[in-house]
Amino acid sequence: MYKWALFILFCLACTLSVGLLLFNLPAKQTAVAEEPAIVIPDKSVDTKAAESVYKSNCVSCHGDQLQGSLGPNLTTIGGSVSKEKIYKQIIKGGNGMPGFEGKLTEDEIVNLSNWLAAKK
Ligand code: HEC
Repeated sequence: MYKWALFILFCLACTLSVGLLLFNLPAKQTAVAEEPAIVIPDKSVDTKAAESVYKSNCVSCHGDQLQGSLGPNLTTIGGSVSKEKIYKQIIKGGNGMPGFEGKLTEDEIVNLSNWLAAKK
């Protein structure tokens, strides 16, 4: 009996979430018309890889302790800037920072973004 009750509950939950999805999708599409939202996969951070990419590409402007020099301090960047914005900043650069699209691999940039986003 108990199993059946759980199963029915599960089906109800599924129906509900599918319904919500279908219901919500059109509204979202109109809201985000211009740019598709960036979704950064929540991968576990490879700290060593992030530090090595950081050392060879970012140290000159953000300092060896993330303390900043030419670029801003990044020691608590994750507290104020979303992972998606960090990712975008690395890809596109801007205001004195070069963009790293094509210079770093997608994996390296995602890893860096996750690494920085965890600095809070
Ligand atoms: C030539 C110098 C330079 C290099 C190299 C550089 N940056 Fe930057 N970075 C800047 C500047 C200047 C800003 C501020 C841009 C602004 O105000 O819009 C910035 C901003 C940022 C921000 C946003 C900070 C905030 O508070 O919004 C992040 C994140 C960032 N850089 C990460 C990186 C990473 C990661 C790398 C290496 C892959 C890197 N930067 C390499 C100069 C640099």
